[in-house]
Amino acid sequence: MTPEPPATAAVPAAPTRVLSGIQPTGRFHWGNYFGAIRQYIDLQDAGEAYYFIADLHALTTVRDPARLRSLVHDAAVDLVALGLDPSRATLFVQSDVPEVTELTWLLMTVTPMGLLERCHAYKDKKTRGLPADAGLFTYPVLMSADILGYDATVVPVGEDQVQHIEVCRDLAGTFNHLYGDVFTLPKPRLVAGGARVPGTDGQKMSKSYDNTLDVFEDAAAQRKKIMRITTDSRPMEAPKAPEDDHLFALYALVAPEADRLAMADLYRRGGFGYGEVKKALAAAAADFFATARARRAELEAAPDRIEAILAAGAERARAKAREVLARAREACGLTRGRVARAAAPTPRGPRS
Ligand code: ADP
Ligand code: TRP
Repeated sequence: MTPEPPATAAVPAAPTRVLSGIQPTGRFHWGNYFGAIRQYIDLQDAGEAYYFIADLHALTTVRDPARLRSLVHDAAVDLVALGLDPSRATLFVQSDVPEVTELTWLLMTVTPMGLLERCHAYKDKKTRGLPADAGLFTYPVLMSADILGYDATVVPVGEDQVQHIEVCRDLAGTFNHLYGDVFTLPKPRLVAGGARVPGTDGQKMSKSYDNTLDVFEDAAAQRKKIMRITTDSRPMEAPKAPEDDHLFALYALVAPEADRLAMADLYRRGGFGYGEVKKALAAAAADFFATARARRAELEAAPDRIEAILAAGAERARAKAREVLARAREACGLTRGRVARAAAPTPRGPRS
């Protein structure tokens, strides 16, 4: 028999398991890339990583099946083209893992209505007098199952999703309190430090404002959009503070460091026109995304490849979700023939 470890033995640190979901509700724009996706991809080296395309969540807004299918496909191709490496991270489609949908129900039974009534997506619709469906209302519970179903420890998200992680922690805590140590409590990792990518009109870039520059849009179309970026009526010779200008902010995202510094100097000195800056922006954007564009073209030429990546990802994700779901079902009494063991939940490793 192996001796019991001494009571003082250090508890092994929980492994870092990064997870995030991305809704396929439109083609990715620079706000999505610089504000979120780039950081998610960087985190694939931080530990085990799971990234999924949240098609079930998208169903609350995309009601056209052909469009949903093509958005899911495009999101997968875009993510791999942008550097998500399927040999390092598990990339899959949310609806390919039905275990998570079952877990949603288990969590739903410990979810107070009041908690969901306070969640912003539902609350915003309600205050605007718009009808909301139960899918939107229970959206944060599905998101909680997405996270808990994989024992995720770190969830990189934008500011707007932090409330949902709090809901997730709350539900996991309640479930654990009732049934024993079943779920790992995740921590949000705020990406972009609140940085807001401006759109072509200077407001926050968003598909709802029709002011986006899309990551993979046609180069000529993008150039046209860039040439139409709104600017003020400053005379050519007048200097301008670069930090106050959304055109400069966009340039700074895609230009190499030395070019960015030179452009900032030019702004401070004056004697330049916005047309010049726009041309430089279009050229820098084309260079910045050139590798990703080439990779995208290769992937599009071999459609089976992306399907194989998603199928392998779903298989890995399901194996993990199956294990967590079995734990949850056992803990709350959804397994038969185990009456004798039912009283004491099996002791498990540390959860934080
Ligand atoms: P949209 O406003 O176009 O509908 P989403 O809400 O789908 O964009 O954005 C998904 C994620 O992308 C957000 O959670 C946020 O992290 C990031 N994001 C979107 N727009 C911006 C922006 N303009 N600046 C920084 N991050 C952004
Ligand atoms: N709700 C997230 C968004 O709109 C997407 C999402 C779904 C998600 N499930 C998740 C993000 C789980 C992180 C973890 O951006």
